[in-house]
Amino acid sequence: MDYNDEIQAAVEWKTTREQVAIWCSRDLVPGAEPAGDGWKIPKNAPRPRAEDLVSPKPEPVAKPFLKWAGGKTQILDQIRARYPEGLGRELDRYAEPFVGSGAVLFDVLSRYDMGEIYIGDTNRELIACYQTVRDRVDELTEILERYEKDYLPGDAAARKLFYTQARTRFNQLKKEASHVTELAALFIFLNHTCFNGLYRVNSEGEFNVPMGSYRNPTICDAKNLRAVSQALAGVNITCAGYGQSLGIINSSSFVYVDPPYRPLSPTSRFTSYVQGAFGDPEQAELARFVDEAVEKGAYVLVSNSDPKNTDPQDDFFDRLYAKHAIERIKAVRVINSVATGRGAITELLIVGYKK
Ligand SMILES: C[S@@+](CC[C@H](N)C(=O)[O-])C[C@H]1O[C@@H](n2cnc3c(N)ncnc32)[C@H](O)[C@@H]1O
Repeated sequence: MDYNDEIQAAVEWKTTREQVAIWCSRDLVPGAEPAGDGWKIPKNAPRPRAEDLVSPKPEPVAKPFLKWAGGKTQILDQIRARYPEGLGRELDRYAEPFVGSGAVLFDVLSRYDMGEIYIGDTNRELIACYQTVRDRVDELTEILERYEKDYLPGDAAARKLFYTQARTRFNQLKKEASHVTELAALFIFLNHTCFNGLYRVNSEGEFNVPMGSYRNPTICDAKNLRAVSQALAGVNITCAGYGQSLGIINSSSFVYVDPPYRPLSPTSRFTSYVQGAFGDPEQAELARFVDEAVEKGAYVLVSNSDPKNTDPQDDFFDRLYAKHAIERIKAVRVINSVATGRGAITELLIVGYKK
């Protein structure tokens, strides 16, 4: 029998090599067989149907259920274009040690069948929220539906009162580390109704973001929460620093690393994450972690800001990641304190793997 490789099949079928690999890994191409790190495809195999193009995995497709500073939805296409080949096959472990709202996590989960999945973050309430969505989604949506019914019909004053009471209750439960499901519901409610979805705490560790001004915020998206719960079944969800993930990273791993970005200018040195700075020494330590993960054979993708937006001479990351491929991608960010202001800037995507 005559065979095409993925590239030849992609040309013939007027699609991408990645799409061909997805079709093959989903058994949609009769007679296709793994070959090296790709596929061999019988020349007479029919092109899969058009509807298989859009959703490589059956519904329901889980989406991020939180807004998060540094969320990656906007540049997801550019990140996706750098996913490794063999994802969902030889590379069937996924680790995202700075998960935030998990834009890349949910994209990977919706497209590929991964074996072992690890997500982590140092934000305790965020992680407890993920665990609650995974383990107790019915109780959680019941509480959120109640909040929605009580909050949405209120006028500005009633909403403000509801918001303030919810924030006080959240801070009380956070301190006691009790009523985990209610705490997760409050976390989601506050995230969707506070100013810009920020998560900021004061020196006492109390969440202190004021209410935002959304006319009709989504408080309970039960359908998505259920899809997320299903997608998270069996996922290792850990509250820990990123270093913890090293133990489970190996040569079958794809690791997406999205740390707090290095501020572009001294005046923008404000991070909305949990207490604990992420300065230049921490960025350097993280680069050593990336080296170690690559040394273990993992394929690692790292996001960060590009200092060259504000200082063309600043080669901080070029030096830190000199061993790896550094790519500059276009992004639109609202950063008022830098010369470029609001508009297109570049960000870094660093690709590391053992050659
Ligand atoms: C840029 S955000 C990640 C955004 C995420 N990719 C998204 O799409 O929403 C960085 C995250 O790292 C977490 N973080 C900060 N320091 C950390 C550390 N040392 N280890 C693990 N997570 C940390 C923060 O709590 C925050 O959620």
